[in-house]
Amino acid sequence: MKIAVLGTGVVGNAIGTKLIQLNHQVMMGSRTANNEKASAWVKQNGGNASQGTFADATKFGEIIFNCTNGAGTPAALNQAGAENLKGKILIDISNALDFSKGMPPTLFVCNTDSLGEQIQRAFPEAKVVKTLNTINCNIMVNPSLVPGDHDVFVSGNDADAKAKVTDILKNWFGWKTVIDLGDITSARTVEMWVILWVRLMGVVGHPNFNLHITKA
Ligand SMILES: NC(=O)c1ccc[n+]([C@@H]2O[C@H](COP(=O)([O-])OP(=O)(O)OC[C@H]3O[C@@H](n4cnc5c(N)ncnc54)[C@H](OP(=O)(O)O)[C@@H]3O)[C@@H](O)[C@H]2O)c1
Repeated sequence: MKIAVLGTGVVGNAIGTKLIQLNHQVMMGSRTANNEKASAWVKQNGGNASQGTFADATKFGEIIFNCTNGAGTPAALNQAGAENLKGKILIDISNALDFSKGMPPTLFVCNTDSLGEQIQRAFPEAKVVKTLNTINCNIMVNPSLVPGDHDVFVSGNDADAKAKVTDILKNWFGWKTVIDLGDITSARTVEMWVILWVRLMGVVGHPNFNLHITKA
């Protein structure tokens, strides 16, 4: 498939590289067409990898991964363009973390709203599915880095889009358990978990851990 990865940070890198390994054509999007990190990623990933602006990548992609900084996400998606997002699955991995007052971070949206919901409201014709924001980027595409059973979540309004994303998580990225939390309002729950995740990382001492729900 032709896939857009919006974001030149560690998440965009991990997702983009995994998609290239799966033989997809991937365009990494950035605010600028010649972003240096994106150029380095293209160099490392061969002929199926390309780079462009957020708009170029979104136009190119049949599916879009949002791996942009949470505070910059609205601007990045405005640059991507409503017309280019129309009718497409938008997999949202962003978190609403605010580091402006140092550590630990707070959230700039929470409780009664979320970034996932804000994106869905801003782009009603995109099919937003929130997922993967609850884990470190290396685990997103390689869940076996954490031993045993552990879980990932999906939130979104469009059942077919969630089914497709669940298929991607299982058959492309190797997840065994994908928990459907419901409509896009459930994005607030996984976005708020990240505050606990940050504290846990301090306790565990590294980012290679995850949640597992056990049931009676
Ligand atoms: N790190 C993890 O393991 C992890 C895990 C779960 C979720 N997340 C979430 O995943 C997202 C990506 O994280 P990351 O660490 O890979 O990268 P990041 O440094 O948070 O974000 C980098 C991307 O955001 C874009 N960006 C930053 N400010 C912007 C603005 N004002 N307007 C438009 N675009 C802007 C940058 O554009 P340019 O390319 O133009 O510089 C770049 O492509 C974040 O929302 C993060 O909270 C991260």
